[in-house]
Amino acid sequence: MADMVLPHHVAIIMDGNGRWATRRLMPRAAGHRAGLKRMIPLAEHVFESGVKYCTLFALSAENLNRPQEELESLFQLFREYFAKQIHKLEQQGIRLRVIGNLALIPADIAALIAQGERETAKGKRGTLTLAIGYGARQDIVSACNSAMKEGREVTVETFAEMLSTGGMPAVDLLIRTGKEKRLSNFLLFEAAYAELYFSEKMFPDFTNKHFDRALAEYCKRDRRYGKI
Ligand code: FPP
Repeated sequence: MADMVLPHHVAIIMDGNGRWATRRLMPRAAGHRAGLKRMIPLAEHVFESGVKYCTLFALSAENLNRPQEELESLFQLFREYFAKQIHKLEQQGIRLRVIGNLALIPADIAALIAQGERETAKGKRGTLTLAIGYGARQDIVSACNSAMKEGREVTVETFAEMLSTGGMPAVDLLIRTGKEKRLSNFLLFEAAYAELYFSEKMFPDFTNKHFDRALAEYCKRDRRYGKI
């Protein structure tokens, strides 16, 4: 029987900014700016749809090997976002969380993130998680090392709590824009039973309506979790 329940946790791989820009003969940085311009209202729409947890892949640990010029353009967007958008999240009752290795990004951004997390900590309407300098395999290995150091034997449930996403429910719906069909080291443990949805749209062109289509498709899927 189809599961008509809304997803609690939606994760989005925001891919295709670079190609969006290149096709318009614009620098890749312009694609990331267009991506951020789309990301803000899209995240609002996700919470308005009734989803409680929205996790967005903003920068992978592997993306940090991109040319410095592109990284600088992304870092500048992070600075603008964390400096200007936090109060809006706070007003909307949205809690900000950031996962990933913040030692890999400039310290001033890490400080803005810590401040943003503090200022929105009381948000009850939903949790917006941005993955920055994030890699799922690195996160899993780090949790394994912590468990070994503590001499702890873990279960699936206690291990999930040790990941950087601890406290969040598993991912129900994972969307990737930009035509590629892979997970690219995103939430590998958390998305074990996620429904996958791949969109041909480059992220700056992925509208709220496209998100609604993904949600409608999710509602039609039959989630069996290995049962019959
Ligand atoms: C992947 O597209 C996208 C990124 C590496 C960056 C995504 C970032 C944003 C949408 C802005 C985020 C801003 C904040 C503040 C969180 P790509 O560059 O790999 O595109 P391509 O595959 O077409 O080259």
